[in-house]
Amino acid sequence: MSEPIRLARPDVGAAELAAVGEVIATGQLTMGPKVEEFEAAVAGVVGTAHAAAVSSGTAALHLALLALEIGPGDEVIVPAYTFPATANVVELCGARAVLVDIDPDTFDIDPSAVAAAVTSKTRAVMAVHLFGRPVDWAALQTAVPQDVPLVEDAAGALGARYRGTPCGALGVAACLSFHPRKIVTTGEGGAVTTDEAALDAAVRRFRHHGWATLGDMPSPGFNYRLPDLLCAIGIPQLARLEELLAARERVARWYTERLEHFVLTPSAADGDRHGWQAYVVQLDRRDEALAALRAAAIEAQIGTWALHRLEPYRPQGAFPGADRAFERALALPFATTTTEAEVERVAAVLTAL
Ligand SMILES: Cc1ncc(COP(=O)(O)O)c(C=O)c1O
Repeated sequence: MSEPIRLARPDVGAAELAAVGEVIATGQLTMGPKVEEFEAAVAGVVGTAHAAAVSSGTAALHLALLALEIGPGDEVIVPAYTFPATANVVELCGARAVLVDIDPDTFDIDPSAVAAAVTSKTRAVMAVHLFGRPVDWAALQTAVPQDVPLVEDAAGALGARYRGTPCGALGVAACLSFHPRKIVTTGEGGAVTTDEAALDAAVRRFRHHGWATLGDMPSPGFNYRLPDLLCAIGIPQLARLEELLAARERVARWYTERLEHFVLTPSAADGDRHGWQAYVVQLDRRDEALAALRAAAIEAQIGTWALHRLEPYRPQGAFPGADRAFERALALPFATTTTEAEVERVAAVLTAL
């Protein structure tokens, strides 16, 4: 039996171990200097005035919506094909997630479908740069009235750029994830980036029980903090962002060279930079491909979820783009440390189908 190939492999090592050791030695494990240092580094690479570290990408999405005061009676437009957290947080704010279809060739939200879904209750659009592919931002901006905020779900898009602007700096607020399948990981973690001081302050309150300052609690909040211990892991990771992305771009090129003639391979629009959170192809016999890869000890996975097929979001109508992506998408093993020999093995299984 060949050596198993994992779906993802976080690129963490000696620097991260040393960073954690340093924090343990200080005895200050939660909100300390590493949080501030990590937040400054996140804001620096994204290019926003503020970045607030939180406990996950899901927490970042939840708090971005609460900071925008989205609640009962409001509608938030969400792509029908995304990780469920993008819609779940809308429902958990008491608002309604209004699904719209995606373009199955890019996996991203279809701006014309967004325009058709806008009502007088629309309070935001969740713009998901799915798998790291930047959304067509100019088209999305023209699809909604100017007073409807665009919130980036940039969970997989740290390092990606839309026409030169980093994803995370496009929307009124953006949400990052540092889950181990993301380019930069803290084990679990997330951040909200924004240029708006009031939104940043609201996120900081909500992540820390609602405290504005100790004793001053304008509204209730959560404990969604990201501790010093985990922020310390993220600092050396962020310092290597360009190197990590270049490595992922190299692996993506190896796959594309071998696969583009017989499956739909992912790419960014001209002038954009893909963030390569995952390498997700599309093919008709996806389930057969999954089974064949698994039989060859290669871990692969479906892309993500068609939300209208999940209990909380049924029935909202037909979403043929999301259905097509859900049925055909296949995430291949993908990491900064993926070797060309591993890519060769994966491609050989797909070629032999
Ligand atoms: C598009 C998208 N949004 C949100 C999330 C949630 O991030 P987290 O797992 O850090 O909560 C993910 C995670 O996979 C994601 O892919």
